Amino acid sequence: MTGLSDAETGTADEAACPFSRAAAEFDPFDAPYQADPAEALRWSREQLPVFFSEKLGYWVVSRYEDIKAVFRDNILYSPCIALEKITPAPPEAMEVLKSYGYQLNRTMVNEDEPAHMERRRVLMDHFLPENLEAKQEMVRRLTREKMDQFIDRGRVDLVDALLYEVPLNVALHFLGVPEDEIAVFKTFSVAHSVNTWGKPTDEQQIAVAHSVGQFWQYAGKIIDRMKQEPDGTGWMHETIRKNAQMPDVVTDSYVHSMMMAIIVAAHETTSLASANMFRTLLSHRQAWDDICDDPSLIPNAVEECLRYAGSIVAWRRQATAPARLGGVELPAGAKLLIVQASGNQDERHFEDGDRFDIYRDNAVDHLTFGYGSHQCMGKNIGRMEMRIFLEEFTRRLPHLKLCEQTFAHVPSTSFRGPEEVWVAWDPAGNPERRDPSLLSRGERHFPVGPPLRRDIARKVKVAAVRREAEGVVGLTLVDARGRALPKWSAGAHVELVAGGFDRKYSLCGKPGNGGYDLAILREADGRGGSAHIHDAVTEGTELRLRGPHNLFRLDENTDAYVLVAGGIGITPIIAMADRLQALGKSYHVHYCGRSRQTMAFVERLEREHGSCLTIHAGNEGQRADLQQIVNELPAGGQIYVCGPERLIAALEQLTAHLPGGSFHFEFFAAGSAGLDPAREKGFEVDLADSGLKITVAADETLLDAILAAGIDVACDCREGLCGSCEVTLLDGEVDHRDKVLTRTERAENRRMMSCCSRSANGGKLKLAL
Ligand code: FES
Repeated sequence: MTGLSDAETGTADEAACPFSRAAAEFDPFDAPYQADPAEALRWSREQLPVFFSEKLGYWVVSRYEDIKAVFRDNILYSPCIALEKITPAPPEAMEVLKSYGYQLNRTMVNEDEPAHMERRRVLMDHFLPENLEAKQEMVRRLTREKMDQFIDRGRVDLVDALLYEVPLNVALHFLGVPEDEIAVFKTFSVAHSVNTWGKPTDEQQIAVAHSVGQFWQYAGKIIDRMKQEPDGTGWMHETIRKNAQMPDVVTDSYVHSMMMAIIVAAHETTSLASANMFRTLLSHRQAWDDICDDPSLIPNAVEECLRYAGSIVAWRRQATAPARLGGVELPAGAKLLIVQASGNQDERHFEDGDRFDIYRDNAVDHLTFGYGSHQCMGKNIGRMEMRIFLEEFTRRLPHLKLCEQTFAHVPSTSFRGPEEVWVAWDPAGNPERRDPSLLSRGERHFPVGPPLRRDIARKVKVAAVRREAEGVVGLTLVDARGRALPKWSAGAHVELVAGGFDRKYSLCGKPGNGGYDLAILREADGRGGSAHIHDAVTEGTELRLRGPHNLFRLDENTDAYVLVAGGIGITPIIAMADRLQALGKSYHVHYCGRSRQTMAFVERLEREHGSCLTIHAGNEGQRADLQQIVNELPAGGQIYVCGPERLIAALEQLTAHLPGGSFHFEFFAAGSAGLDPAREKGFEVDLADSGLKITVAADETLLDAILAAGIDVACDCREGLCGSCEVTLLDGEVDHRDKVLTRTERAENRRMMSCCSRSANGGKLKLAL
């Protein structure tokens, strides 16, 4: 893909000036970035999302969508500089490296197409989720053995006691590299990391160069040793065999370079991420206590730690042609530092992004593993290890506490994690002393892969129940343990889990009023979720809740708005009206319903938005003239509509002539009914970019089949409402079942939502994946 994406095109007509005082002062080796890269770039996310850092000689990219756009297009933004030394070495250090014959060449990380995907396809089998399941036992055994050594000690540095060595052992085991020289690897891999992403002084550069040179030679010797075992197991053995079978694809230089790079990739990242994870969880005690109480929250807690405090905070790319990114013109050859840690806290994608929240249901969207065809292949190994660490620690040491300490980090633009994490506990309180059977009881088993959304739910309590209108009940929900609930923005919804039903409801109160207000219509023809809430939920009832999540976000950069609500679709619309009023914007609300008695919030709307409101009550003969509503939209204005499908479809048609981005809608659909294997057909799919063929079973979604093949596709709602799982269709006929694509887009047959849409009649599909 070489065309400019939306993010590259930017929204501003004029290119933004990428220079400012803050930009000139930015230095990633200064204390603020080293202490907290996301916070250090808050100003950039808010004011100047792409800027030139003179001190670094790089263009810094700080917003989520811009970073994702860079990762997505690995032709326009080449990965070729990903392993370049960010701090240039003096000639003496280069001489030292040369004396060792050091020639680190292309690896999976910094290789351009088409070579990259050709090799990746050949070498990816070991990383597939199904092939990693069997490794869980080994990771658990290594973790337990290490814990046994210090469980009665009462105070340790977790990095020294476990978090360095176990990931290194797991990495060596996965690669098939002998485990007997762990100390040697430790010294060398730190040197490689400092050499590439650190800021050594000229003097240190010489010492680092010696270590890196020795590492290079050592890696070569290990490859020679491994070649003597043609049947050896592990990924490096497989790579060596592929080198013999297809030397043009998996070259000698590639094997040697990968041997060195993968050690760092495979364990340094997991060690640092795990150290960050323990530090973060133990300093957010409620989160730690929650995962001890309910271990099903562990996979998402890991994902949130990777988002909030991941070990890879920035990565590098180089523009191969002039490009426009975040409204800024980039010259060909521009070097980019894309700061994932900043994107991971971008409010535009993550509600209340700087808050650590293990209940966040889109934490998995973080960019710590990268995105696109270069996404970290070992991501599921890292996740698996971090989950097992938490399972074992929450079972055996729930009373663990973080000691008072100052955390030190090795200076780096890209890798981040404390060198030590000191923790303490009272061994007399170890649960296994009271109940030795704890150790032999069956542990949990989390499937390898991303967390399951159904597990990500917080406990809430109903603080108030009220009648909002005929057939509409209002609830105020508060945290069951009395904590603050996450912030939300107009258009956001939550998912309520009650009586075995999962249902989405928009938030309709005012942000910051201490609880979440919902208004729920009893749906006579529904599947029972709303009826259960009407009949069984009373003040004090405990429920589980997911979210909030915003798929219907208000673009606050326009001056004029028309908001249209049909029936209970008023819930997000009233929150938008409140927000626009607070911003001092021009807006008008059109609220359509059968009668005022059945329409919630009429009184409040008249009281607070009366001069900007038209009520269209059917029984008063006040039906809305949609054409008139569209005609009255000022030039450059935007329309937001929530309501029944026919209202949205009619407005969609009437606004078809307006510029793209003028029309926004949200259905208040009652969730997906799921697949009925008796009626569905299986089908085959060619994934053109990765050269894979997959089969989608009758009882599985296309999205799940793609994820099982180890290919990452973003997803959110999983029911055809949000558009995040869109894939590009190259061939085949699709049965579109989403609520995202317009009729014209469906007729074009070039895109589909993988979570719900399928092949029409079981025919083969071809996707650009
Ligand atoms: Fe939302 Fe598929 S995940 S449309």
